[in-house]
Amino acid sequence: MCQEKKEKSRLSFSILSLFPGYFDGPFRESMLKRAQESGLIEISLIDIRSYSEDRHNRVDDRPFGGGPGMVMKAEPVAKAIRDVKEKGSKVIYLSPQGKPLTAKLCRSFSEENHLILLSGHYEGIDERVIESEVDETVSIGDYVLTSGCSAAIVFVDAVSRFVPGVVGDEESVIQDSFEGIGLLDHPHYTQPRNFEGRQVPEVLLSGDHAKIEAWRRARAEENTKMRRPELLKKRRD
Ligand code: ADE
Repeated sequence: MCQEKKEKSRLSFSILSLFPGYFDGPFRESMLKRAQESGLIEISLIDIRSYSEDRHNRVDDRPFGGGPGMVMKAEPVAKAIRDVKEKGSKVIYLSPQGKPLTAKLCRSFSEENHLILLSGHYEGIDERVIESEVDETVSIGDYVLTSGCSAAIVFVDAVSRFVPGVVGDEESVIQDSFEGIGLLDHPHYTQPRNFEGRQVPEVLLSGDHAKIEAWRRARAEENTKMRRPELLKKRRD
């Protein structure tokens, strides 16, 4: 998308959707932009509509059995997937019906070479193309988005962080929430020391690294206990 490359990227994403313009901003900024420029990841955007053979370029139709909304037709979706599929590609359908995206799953996806992300629209996609073409269905959370496009952005971001070199400091990938110690993060502070009467905790100014580590760990445990107690239970199991 945003690069001219000589060598193959470590990880390629092909995003199939009805609105490729949706992705214009997020992949042209910051870390994901740099990751593409340095050839660590590659992102291509594919317009499913261009695979429609319908006279009016239609990609959806009414659901059999009745009910509200429209369903994406199987043919253009199947054609788009088959066109971009290579040996070893993994096809992922983004849908609230999928398995929850976790750090563990992101790490394992980051070890693939080519991920084809299928963004659904309307009420969903004809089940037959999911049966025949999709390897895994993934959800980014228990809520319904207007389309799978924003889920695809979250997916690319969260998975790319695990590609070596994308995040400058490898340690921070491990230290961040959920991976490594399985706790939420500790709070962070920077200048000024006094912000509207709120002080930076004294221990962070002490220069005593062991003490600072212990304080951060205690705050991480406290945060986790307060906000996500089920994560602590998972660590004990
Ligand atoms: N499409 C709509 N809602 C979604 C969700 N929660 N996760 C993934 N894809 C989606």
